[in-house]
Amino acid sequence: TWKLGDFAAETIERIRQEVGSDRVICGLSGGVDSSVVAALLAKAIGPQLSCILVDNGLLRQAEEEAVVAEFTQHFKTDLRVVKGEDRFLAALAGVTDPQEKRRRIGHTFIDCFVDEAKKIKGAKFLAQGTLYPDVIESGAAVDGPADTIKLHHNVGGLPAELGFELIEPLRDLFKDEVRRLGLQLGLPEEIVWRHPFPGPGLAVRCLGEVTKEKLDTLRAADAIVVGEIKAAGLYRSTSQAFAVLLPVQSVGVMGDSRTYDNALAVRCVNTDDFMTADWSHLPYEVLARISTRVINEVKGVNRVVYDISSKPPATIEWE
Ligand code: XMP
Repeated sequence: TWKLGDFAAETIERIRQEVGSDRVICGLSGGVDSSVVAALLAKAIGPQLSCILVDNGLLRQAEEEAVVAEFTQHFKTDLRVVKGEDRFLAALAGVTDPQEKRRRIGHTFIDCFVDEAKKIKGAKFLAQGTLYPDVIESGAAVDGPADTIKLHHNVGGLPAELGFELIEPLRDLFKDEVRRLGLQLGLPEEIVWRHPFPGPGLAVRCLGEVTKEKLDTLRAADAIVVGEIKAAGLYRSTSQAFAVLLPVQSVGVMGDSRTYDNALAVRCVNTDDFMTADWSHLPYEVLARISTRVINEVKGVNRVVYDISSKPPATIEWE
């Protein structure tokens, strides 16, 4: 029978053979797939590995810090954090169309990544966290409607421009296998069990034009949503839980004055494959705590609504 223990050992050996004495670049996103790839490479060819994390200013609270700590203190890799927030915000200024937001984020990501990769001398390989379902999907999506519904921007398109050879050690694995492998390699549960997070990040959860101020509001609210889901012991049994900042203002009352502030949507779904999803039937008490805390603690939000739409016809993200 197929054992993950053998998979790790065999893959590490295969990477050593393939890479020889050359240098490998690995893009870290903060998610489980790229973290597992980086951990595998760190074990296989540690000193020849350089990781690049593009801080696009669109990440969740404390997300970057956790990954940086893991790959500098635990795995002790050469990790380069590209501080790209200003570039991303400039690219997004004034843009409201969801597809155009995604496109600009994708291009800015590639620019930031390429600039940094060029500084790494003698790199021959680029490692990616492609999984088995990605392999099937990208084959099927070429002329299907799937990829036109929402433009997905991950690291595609990079190798051609930079002339790297690709290393994709997770190509044969499903998500649950990647998670088990991550635990086996010593990654913390916080990273291994993290809910999926879209490449364009909080930009697609900040409806309409993206500004630093809106992102900060959303980040604070999102941390409360996720924190309360975790505190209730529901993080592992839900597939994704997050906040969406709506471009809607409504009237409220705070103390004895009137407010006219933003509404925030809470989205929480259960799904096996992310192609279809049901909204999570969260306990009322959890919803109540989220609502009370967000309205009391997050400046600029005076109303919280819960999204009870399933996919299809709604998508998981709002943009
Ligand atoms: P939707 O909103 O299409 O999302 O139901 C399905 C899953 O894909 C994630 N998602 C993205 N992931 N880049 C990504 O890497 C993207 O542009 C993107 N858009 C959506 C979403 O979070 C959900 O898990």
